[in-house]
Amino acid sequence: MTKNVCYLLQDLLLAGTNTTTHAIEWTMAEIINNPNVLEKLREEIGSVVGKARLIQETDLPNLPYLQAVVKEGLRMHTPAPILFRTFQEKCEIKGFHIPEKTTLILNSYAIMRDPNFWEDPEEFKPERFQEEETREEVLKYLPFSSGRRGCPGTSLAYVSVENAIGVMVQCFDWKIKGDKVDISEAPGSVTLTMAYPLKCTPVPRTQIPLRL
Ligand code: HEM
Repeated sequence: MTKNVCYLLQDLLLAGTNTTTHAIEWTMAEIINNPNVLEKLREEIGSVVGKARLIQETDLPNLPYLQAVVKEGLRMHTPAPILFRTFQEKCEIKGFHIPEKTTLILNSYAIMRDPNFWEDPEEFKPERFQEEETREEVLKYLPFSSGRRGCPGTSLAYVSVENAIGVMVQCFDWKIKGDKVDISEAPGSVTLTMAYPLKCTPVPRTQIPLRL
């Protein structure tokens, strides 16, 4: 029993930490490279949260642009780009015969950058998530996979990433070397990793006490 609980905790740690930190790092890199997005985020946070206090979890439902920025970060840089499924029974899909126990490897990274499904897929455009989603749009957006084995930590992940990005945008300017962050991807990793980890220096921009 204790052993099972340990395995469960280990799974949760592995599944929940790397993915969340990578999502924050990639999304911050995109925000730094897109000053218009940073500006719009600050306007939204300023009007909803104000300047006297720190953004907190209960503010998140009132910050649709912040939610859209995080969704777009997860679309372009999905931390878990490869998904696996095994067929319990043989079946036929569009004329292909699939034997029982076949392992299907799904490239969700490619799906979320497919120009047949997404307009300007290589561009960071959070606005695309501000329109109402159709069923088809829900199915082509897979950072947390889908179905019964989809990520059980989805809600926690959104809250953690949105809160972290919100605080970083609200409280700091971010200085980098050069004009743009290099957003190349490192090869050979199960989790989508930056080839050159994001190096940036925070410069405080508000007088909000950071103590929680
Ligand atoms: C941005 C953050 C995260 C991303 C992008 C992410 C993504 C994913 C993906 C794609 C899967 C595979 C699902 C599948 O095969 O269908 C998964 C599984 C899983 N995730 Fe997450 N995840 C994140 C955060 C978290 C957090 C915060 C937790 C828990 C604290 C968590 C717990 C799990 C667990 C336990 C599984 C295995 C589920 C199973 O095999 O049935 N994840 N996650």
